[in-house]
Amino acid sequence: ATTLGAAAAEKGRYFGTAVAAYKLSDSVYSGILNREFNSVTPENEMKWDATEPTQGTFTFTSADTIVNRAVSIGAKVRGHALAWHSQQPSWAQNLSGTALRNAMVNHVTQVTTHYRGKIDSWDVVNEAFADGSTGARRTSNLQSTGNDWIEVAFRTARAADPAAKLCYNDYNTDGQNAKSNAVYAMVSDFKARGVPIDCVGFQSHFNAASPLPSDYQANLQRFADLGVDVQITELDIEGSGTAQANSFAAATNACLAVTRCNGITVWGIRDTDSWRASGTPLLFDGNGNPKAAYTAVLNAL
Ligand code: XIL
Repeated sequence: ATTLGAAAAEKGRYFGTAVAAYKLSDSVYSGILNREFNSVTPENEMKWDATEPTQGTFTFTSADTIVNRAVSIGAKVRGHALAWHSQQPSWAQNLSGTALRNAMVNHVTQVTTHYRGKIDSWDVVNEAFADGSTGARRTSNLQSTGNDWIEVAFRTARAADPAAKLCYNDYNTDGQNAKSNAVYAMVSDFKARGVPIDCVGFQSHFNAASPLPSDYQANLQRFADLGVDVQITELDIEGSGTAQANSFAAATNACLAVTRCNGITVWGIRDTDSWRASGTPLLFDGNGNPKAAYTAVLNAL
């Protein structure tokens, strides 16, 4: 196959990218998107601040634009993200306790209902665990509503859109460490108690200080062995040339080696589309030309 999406499909997987609605009018950007990818994740458009800027008033225009494009190119959609401590509207930031819990539940219900039947996988909860060695939950307003907020979000999403795969998504969980051990324990507990969870997303934002872990594949595999799909959800790798290409190939090979790793998403198309303030962490350069990293991924698929 000659494109990322087609090559991944031959392996029973998808290859996706984060998409920003406002860039769809850029013909270079749109051309690469339409040609190469068979899954899309709205980069910001489905987040709480974007979809419910005023409590109880939902705005889906930008996210719908991306979903419509996905439909027109035959791509899956990863919904991102329903419940998260970041990018909350200010009204939610100012809520706590029962009022916040109820607002979160209503948000999950309304958004999953709007997109019912159109989402392959939802990041139901994003980044709920703390960094470092504690294995604790992250301190947040949502966590302060009670430890059960995560399972409540999953049960709420399942009730509204039973066909979507429901994922827990996080960063710095890509290798085995205290944080990923804590997520592992939660997923194991959810499976034991019948809390609906179908997948775990590994953001996979890598740089020199935090490179692709040597146990990446083993870590994906241990989660898969719990009975969930695993997905690489926000892949970007700082660097350039052969070293960067080798890291992208290694990430791709890790996914392919895990039967239940069913898709890879890069967090943007061109280096200039990256959320990172500096660096060249993606597969296409600023002019839209494929980099060595692109060829390495295509050859690995
Ligand atoms: C980032 C977007 O790429 C930026 O445009 C935005 O300003 C901040 O959020 N983890 C996530 C993503 O789950 O939602 C983040 O996306 C990157 C880190």
